[in-house]
Amino acid sequence: MLRRVKTAVMVSGSGSNLQALIDAGKRGDTPHLDIALVISSKKESYALKRAEQNSIPIAVVERRKYKDDIEGFERELLPWLTRYNIEFIVLAGFLTIFSKDFTRSFPGRIINVHPALIPSFCGKGLYGIKVHKAALDCGVKVSGATVHYVNEIVDGGRIILQKAIEVMEDDTPEALQQRIMREAEWELLPRAAELVAAKIAEENDEGH
Ligand code: GRF
Repeated sequence: MLRRVKTAVMVSGSGSNLQALIDAGKRGDTPHLDIALVISSKKESYALKRAEQNSIPIAVVERRKYKDDIEGFERELLPWLTRYNIEFIVLAGFLTIFSKDFTRSFPGRIINVHPALIPSFCGKGLYGIKVHKAALDCGVKVSGATVHYVNEIVDGGRIILQKAIEVMEDDTPEALQQRIMREAEWELLPRAAELVAAKIAEENDEGH
């Protein structure tokens, strides 16, 4: 029997990638993925509204309360993961970098979407619109999106899926960001999440 993997989607922003995951689920494209919880690092995140509209439980763990104390943030986060029996974490526009201890305690269980072709335009300080500004400043002719495993190196885990998107002559960072989201991120993230969830389901079944 098909086993659905209890998944937390972690967000900080508008949640359009969360929406892509929800829509893929409704279409039947992510049979192994059970979005059991949405966790936001910001209480004003629109992603929380999207979760509520779809009757998905929500939690807010405010990043700003902890400043440099990432372990403090993780200590508040962990009981939520335990309470909902979370086996898999999808970072969908989530702006916090986890500690080494945290990522090592979920090996192969955390993935992230990045709006460029890693290893280009990634790493510390390169997130959101800054990624697209850097790509245009360089004059690249293609950019795209990457879904990768999360380890202690920022944007450094193994790549799961990538999709290239052509850069247009007259692209602004905002136009490029929109096209990469629409044509790459929203397609790749559900596909990658389903691939990893299916793998987790299979591994756990073998262990029984
Ligand atoms: C996306 O471009 C994602 O790749 C990046 O932040 C943006 C989040 O958008 N990490 P949303 O909150 O999913 O709408």
